[in-house]
Amino acid sequence: MENLRIPGPTPCPDEVLRAMSRQMINHRGLEFAQLLDDVTAKLKQLFQTKGDVFLLTASGSGGLEAAIVNTLSPGDKVLSVPIGVFGERFTGIAEQFGAEVIPLRFEWGKAADVDAVRQALQAEPKIKAVLVTHNETSTGVTNDLASISSVVKEFDKLLLVDAISSLGSINLPVDDGHCDVTITGSQKGWMIPPGLAMVSISQEAWQAQASARMPRFYWDFAQAKSYLEKATTQTPWTPAISTIFALSVSLEMMLREGLTNIIARHARVGKAARDGIKSLGLSLFAEESHASNTVTAVAASDGLDINKMRQILREEHQVVLAGGQQTLAGKIFRIGHLGWVTEGDIEAVISALRVVLPQAGFRR
Ligand SMILES: Cc1ncc(COP(=O)(O)O)c(C=O)c1O
Repeated sequence: MENLRIPGPTPCPDEVLRAMSRQMINHRGLEFAQLLDDVTAKLKQLFQTKGDVFLLTASGSGGLEAAIVNTLSPGDKVLSVPIGVFGERFTGIAEQFGAEVIPLRFEWGKAADVDAVRQALQAEPKIKAVLVTHNETSTGVTNDLASISSVVKEFDKLLLVDAISSLGSINLPVDDGHCDVTITGSQKGWMIPPGLAMVSISQEAWQAQASARMPRFYWDFAQAKSYLEKATTQTPWTPAISTIFALSVSLEMMLREGLTNIIARHARVGKAARDGIKSLGLSLFAEESHASNTVTAVAASDGLDINKMRQILREEHQVVLAGGQQTLAGKIFRIGHLGWVTEGDIEAVISALRVVLPQAGFRR
C-alpha cells in the first residue's frame, strides 16, 4: 500500500472502506434518519458545539461558499485575512458574490498578525464579517485563532472560519472560540473519502442568515435545518450516502480514541515531521511558532529538484508527497499528516527522503 502523505485526501482505515461497500438505503427513510441523527450528534461533540451542524454533499470549497452566501449580502464589507492559497480562495468566493472585500494579506509562510486584524477592524467600522483560515494547508501554517477570535468579537463581527484541514485534528473549540460558521471537509482529518463538507452555525450566524441576500439555493442553511427537524430526519438534497456510512464508522473510531488523544497524536506526529525534516538538513517553510500539526511545508534548498524527488519517492518507495501550489510550485513540498496517521508513517517518509534527497540533487 502507498504511504499517501498528502494533506487530503487522506488514507482510510479498512473498517471505513468496508462500510462504503454497503448497499444503498432510502435517504428519506427511518434507517437513514437514525444514521443522520447519530452522525450529527457525534460531529457536534468533535466540533465542541451545541449549535447546529450540517452535512453538505460537497467538497470543502462548497462549504466555504455556503458560509458566505448564508451570512452576507452583496455590498457587505468583509475583512478577509488570507495567508495562502486557501485564504485567497475564501476571499475570491466572497468577491464573486458581491461582497466588498478588504483583504489583509500576510506573507506566505507566516501567520496572521492579530494586532493588524485589530487595526483593520478599527479603521473600518462597517465591516460585517471576518474570513479566516484556521490551518493554511498550502503553507503549513496554523493561525492563532483564539486570539483572532477574541479581537473579532471585541468588535462584535461575524467570524467565518475555514477549518477544513484542522477540525478534528487540531484543537478548535467552536463555541468557546466564538466561531460563527466553521467549515471542514471529509477527506482531511476525518479519515474518509472526499464528498462531504461539514459546517457549524452559531446563533449570531442564524441572525445574519435571516437577512442575508446573496443568492443561494443548494446551500441554504434554512433548508438544511428544516429537513433536519422533520420527524424523519433528512437532508434537502440527495446526500452522499456511502460517505456518510464511512463517516459513521470513522466518528465511532474518533470518539473511542478521544478528541484530546487525537489532538495530542497530531501534535506528536507534527513534531516528528518537523524534527525529521530538520535532521535531514532541510528547512521548514512555515515560521516554526505557527507550524501546522496536520501538514508540514518544506522549503526547497539549492539543487533539490522537487519533482524528481517526488517521482523517485513514489516509484521506488511508495511514498506520495504533495508539491507546492500556485507561486509555491517547485519551491516547497508538503507532507500531510492528518487523520489516520502515526509517528511510524512519518518515520517511513523521513527514511525514504534520506535515501532519495541526494538522488534528487540535494547537498547538505
Ligand atoms: C484549508 C483548506 N481550505 C479549502 C480547501 C478546499 O477544499 P476542497 O478541495 O475540498 O474543495 C482545502 C483543501 O485542501 C484546504 O486545505
